[in-house]
Amino acid sequence: MNHLLSVTDLTDHMIESLLFWADCIKNQGPRAINPLPDSIMASFFAEPSTRTRLSFESAMHKLGGNVITAADASISSSLSKGESLKDTFKTLSKYANVIVVRHKDNEWPLEARKWASVPVINAGSGSGEHPTQALLDLFTIQQHFGKVHGLSVLFCGDLKYGRTVHSLISLLTRYNCKIYLCPAETLRCNPLFGNYGELLEKLVQTPGILVDHAAVPGILPDMDVVYMTRVQQERIPYKNDISEFVMTKEKAEMMRKDGMIMHPLPRNSEISEEVDDDPRAYYFKQVENGLYVRMSILQHILKIQP
Ligand code: NCD
Repeated sequence: MNHLLSVTDLTDHMIESLLFWADCIKNQGPRAINPLPDSIMASFFAEPSTRTRLSFESAMHKLGGNVITAADASISSSLSKGESLKDTFKTLSKYANVIVVRHKDNEWPLEARKWASVPVINAGSGSGEHPTQALLDLFTIQQHFGKVHGLSVLFCGDLKYGRTVHSLISLLTRYNCKIYLCPAETLRCNPLFGNYGELLEKLVQTPGILVDHAAVPGILPDMDVVYMTRVQQERIPYKNDISEFVMTKEKAEMMRKDGMIMHPLPRNSEISEEVDDDPRAYYFKQVENGLYVRMSILQHILKIQP
């Protein structure tokens, strides 16, 4: 494994190996493994983050490695002085063995491929992709159901600008999952899906895939997973009242007992807090699993695991 910039960089075998190793880490306790004492991870985040940045940093510390950080890099780094991504990647490559990057430009991974001389991990590229979130989501689903193949998954919310959705749908289609989409009003699926234009355009044409808000309660009992997302207000050029499906305790109880309610977090009002105590709420499990999956990714990228 060299860079991890898109889920399309991953073969089925790599995914299996990443998830297998994440499971080993989870079972033996993350502190037991200490194989990266000489490695440095640079985390370079030019967009806000709580979970992704801190879980990567925690993962590297737990692996015995070292971390250097540019948080708020859009202000605190020389990007704010007009430095190019090319010069930024060339510079970071001199200081670290692996670079973890988040930036608002959907196309920054192309620059990383050209200019970075150490592996780069995509921690969010604008409204395009978020491959490590998709891997931890996949891991969480697999841990719960013991499989991913053939599951029914409903995506609700910002399916246009939500990068986690794009990466996860791409992964789930490899497992023949049945995908349903309930986009927030005014953010209906359209070709502005960036790299996933083709995939999601094709999906949208599948009969029955698009579900209206009013019809969601009717299909909840048939869903294995309901994946909720926040409206990415910071990426939307207009401020509007956007109506969307809201997961309440009552709606959660319409799902099967072993169904999963997932969310990459942060949430706004699309999941009521009363749902947090429902056994179907898996979003804080995702948070925990993020640590194991990112430890596994770092070990693979730094060639400690096959
Ligand atoms: C997501 C992101 O940054 O894309 N958060 C995350 O990494 N867990 C989702 C979001 O910001 O809505």
